[in-house]
Amino acid sequence: ADGSFVPAVVIGTGYGAAVAALRLGEAGVETLMIEMGRQWDSPGADGNVFPNMLRPDERSTWFKSRTEAPLGSFLWLDVVNRDITPYAGVLDRVNFDQMSVYVGRGVGGGSLVNGGMAVVPKRAYFEEVLPQVDAAEMYDRYFPRANATLRVNHIDKGWFEETEWYKFARVSRDQAGKAGLGTTFVPNVYDWDHMRREAAGQAPKSALATEVIYGNNHGKMTLDKTYLAAALGTGKVTIKTLHKVGAIRQQRDGSYVLTIEEIDPYGKRVATKEISCTYLFLGAGSLGSTELLLRARETGALPELSGEVGAGWGPNGNIMTARANHIWNPTGSKQSSIPALGIDDWNNPTAPVFAEIAPMPAGLETWVSLYLAITKNPERGTFVYDKATGRMSLRWTRDQNKPAVDAAKSLFDRINKANSTVYRYDLFGPRLKNFADDFCYHPLGGLVLGKATDHYGRVSGYKNLYVTDGSLIPGSIGVNPFVTITALAERNIERVIKQDVAAS
Ligand code: FDA
Repeated sequence: ADGSFVPAVVIGTGYGAAVAALRLGEAGVETLMIEMGRQWDSPGADGNVFPNMLRPDERSTWFKSRTEAPLGSFLWLDVVNRDITPYAGVLDRVNFDQMSVYVGRGVGGGSLVNGGMAVVPKRAYFEEVLPQVDAAEMYDRYFPRANATLRVNHIDKGWFEETEWYKFARVSRDQAGKAGLGTTFVPNVYDWDHMRREAAGQAPKSALATEVIYGNNHGKMTLDKTYLAAALGTGKVTIKTLHKVGAIRQQRDGSYVLTIEEIDPYGKRVATKEISCTYLFLGAGSLGSTELLLRARETGALPELSGEVGAGWGPNGNIMTARANHIWNPTGSKQSSIPALGIDDWNNPTAPVFAEIAPMPAGLETWVSLYLAITKNPERGTFVYDKATGRMSLRWTRDQNKPAVDAAKSLFDRINKANSTVYRYDLFGPRLKNFADDFCYHPLGGLVLGKATDHYGRVSGYKNLYVTDGSLIPGSIGVNPFVTITALAERNIERVIKQDVAAS
């Protein structure tokens, strides 16, 4: 190492990373967070920090020359995406062979780009997915702690019923009801009071101005406003941005050395450095943390890592689909970008589905009802390291998503039948396609709890090396995952600080 040593390093600034940093800082441990993306706090030429979805510019996308929006077409036309200058933008789409994964880049990780839906999983399913975790402790203690610190709040039901901005959700609810399906309100980290003031013209519009996947300029309680602000407030935590960790090795005294590349926002290398630490926490997300450990194992840098590193990955059963409504059933030209309702059919014994009713804020009437379905797909992928490129690839084939498509299809076929409606085939690329089965928002697994790590995220084979993010969850959790990632990180870091850090 070049002499720069810190007691604890946390890689990444997403949910798991932010929890670890806050609790380490509170425990008095000097902690450095290392984030490959930028800090999103200064406005661009248009006066805003983030661009909206209808006019994306370079800030929207992580180093591409064209945006890669999830809904890539309209009437099969490539009207959505834009040519841009490659830049350290906020949303990345990592394209593996047969699966693409959307992730956030910047201080706050996925919280910068996500829909803010803050859902505690059904307890029975949590127990099925993570049987080694004490569920009572999670539901009594760590889920409430996560919800409170993330500032999860609930929509005013009276306002929901009357506002034009949620007409799309009410239309979908009615149609689900005709098929005998129930819906549930979904809590969020978007400040619903702010949204009401947006609607009343009393606050600057964000959710009501098509902002979400490329960042929200107002209203959303992203991690930089919650966990990370509190972490910095301890005075013990600092963050380095535009710093990407490429390699991890261990020195004879047991400390870890990170090789880091610093870039400018246009991708030009500024410096290559090494930082060493005693405690190392991996919070780079399912893709980021898994790649770092796979590389360490396959290059021989950390040879004792388990064969489980890279295994147990899944897209949380994510399938997107859209229905075409009748001309007399408009969904509204005004749509909030923040979802408020989910169709809850998770207790269906053959095809469990939890489908968020997603907006399609196009600024004009589309008659589209859009959904992100979370299904229970038992298929799992495996990450493998490609020595030639030094990158990891994902062993996951399109047909592995068939159980997920089948489950989504059985639910939406019911809704279509009950309403005499059909699917939209024009939104997911240039070919006829009614189910988007080739991308996901919820990558989970790769460093599964109790397999690649012990039951608290301690990496097997190494001391003082920890996983703290979504890679611990084995591929599925049945709801939008960030509350679970946060709560699990809270549980693990409490144990680690008590037993490993405070003790030393
Ligand atoms: P996360 O991905 O948040 O953070 C990892 C961080 O590490 C990133 O900032 C990354 O840049 C950084 N990093 C990676 N590799 C690095 C390296 N080598 N060096 C330095 N830094 C590195 N979930 C939910 O519950 N409700 C919702 O409504 C939504 N909606 C949604 C929409 C969209 C568009 C997306 C993309 C995702 C969602 N999600 C979601 C998913 C949710 O955002 C996701 O599950 C969490 O952000 C994952 O948290 P982690 O802590 O695992 O990593």
